[in-house]
Amino acid sequence: MSMTYYINVYGCQMNFHDSEIISGILESEGFSSTEDPESADVILLVSCAVREHAETRVLGRLSHLGGSSRDRESGKPLMVLCGCVAQEHGDSLLERFRDLDLVVGPDCYRDLPRLISESVRMSAVDFREGDYTGIEPVRMEFPRAFVTIMRGCENFCSYCIVPYVRGREHSRKSDAVISEVTALSEGGYGEITLLGQNVNSYHDGDTSFPLLLRKVASAAPCSRIKFVTSHPKDLGMETVEVMASEQNICRYFHLPFQSGSDVILKRMNRGYTAGEYLQRIGMLRDTMPDIVLSTDVIAGFPGESEEDFQKTIDLLEEVRFDNAFLFKYSERSGTAACSFENSVPEEKRLARLNRLQQIQRRITVEKSGELLGRTLRILITGPAKKPRQQAGRTEGNRMVILEETAFTPGSFVNVKITKADGWTHFGEPCGNPEN
Ligand code: 5AD
Ligand code: SF4
Repeated sequence: MSMTYYINVYGCQMNFHDSEIISGILESEGFSSTEDPESADVILLVSCAVREHAETRVLGRLSHLGGSSRDRESGKPLMVLCGCVAQEHGDSLLERFRDLDLVVGPDCYRDLPRLISESVRMSAVDFREGDYTGIEPVRMEFPRAFVTIMRGCENFCSYCIVPYVRGREHSRKSDAVISEVTALSEGGYGEITLLGQNVNSYHDGDTSFPLLLRKVASAAPCSRIKFVTSHPKDLGMETVEVMASEQNICRYFHLPFQSGSDVILKRMNRGYTAGEYLQRIGMLRDTMPDIVLSTDVIAGFPGESEEDFQKTIDLLEEVRFDNAFLFKYSERSGTAACSFENSVPEEKRLARLNRLQQIQRRITVEKSGELLGRTLRILITGPAKKPRQQAGRTEGNRMVILEETAFTPGSFVNVKITKADGWTHFGEPCGNPEN
């Protein structure tokens, strides 16, 4: 009988896609997946280290699963911690969690079948320049697919642990990216998202990010193309022009600004000023007036004064993002910001975060309300939570719920928006679906 594995993932889209790659590696060696951790032979948790909260959650789950599996009659499952927390803490996790068997970092997933079969408690956390080309990921989100174009990051924003746990930046070969994209498009995937910690610095020989984007757009003419994450300092006009001229690249841009204060941006080592950030936003909106914008913001970075924080509010109000991911600053050991003075007390970080959330909630609701009565093209993604409802996504990533429809997942349908509830919308189909 083949071994079964249960996999659970925390964190960003990169981790989510890494879990699809891990599944691909395991299934090519005869493993089969199960949704039930109690019956699995191997339990894998793919962890995120970007904020303390994410790390605490995954380690809590690890203790819980380890504890509950101890007295099972069918034998103890092998417990594997993958992802960024594995990379960050390595061997020391084996001492801390006696139920943990393997600690495997993001560059070592190809070793998983061997490590599992050897069944020796150990950690594998080398940095390797290779990527996962040649592995067939087990895709979980049809008709939406992710394609990694680069791994790692060398920007060293002073708050961020990613460069320490994901290693040096390395781009995949453009040929490998294009053949993966072509196969996905032929397989009916309606949405393809290119992934990288800093996609704008993609480079393979003469192929820079804008050129790759153009090649991807023409390799997948029937799919819509998205990409994350962009860094404002590296976003140039060329990328914007490619977006504007290729019909199937989504008019959607996620551009983190982190803080509206130049003093804080400098101490974050972000490499741009608020003015330069706004100039990028201007470039996007001048070229594509209907573009949907989202961002990431950190509240309570060390040394952030009321005045600095006000500048973040001002920027949020000035740009009026369609959506924003708002975080309170979290110390990550080993990062430069850990040694910065004047840390903002926890209650103040939380109060500032709440303030930003309030402001953004209002803007999100206002902007969603503007869509009432408009017709948008959505990609049908599958059933929604309630019976007899289907869900789809707009080009700008908004969720739209349809009642009593039975469209094939992967088809594109024009819908009229009838109700908006924050980021979730309700709509009625109008016209025939396209494929
Ligand atoms: N504290 C809070 N937020 C952080 N992020 C990254 N590191 C930290 C940290 N130490 C946020 C940034 C980034 C997003 C993925 O997570 O806003 O863009
Ligand atoms: Fe972290 Fe900055 Fe790299 Fe993004 S660009 S992963 S925030 S170091």
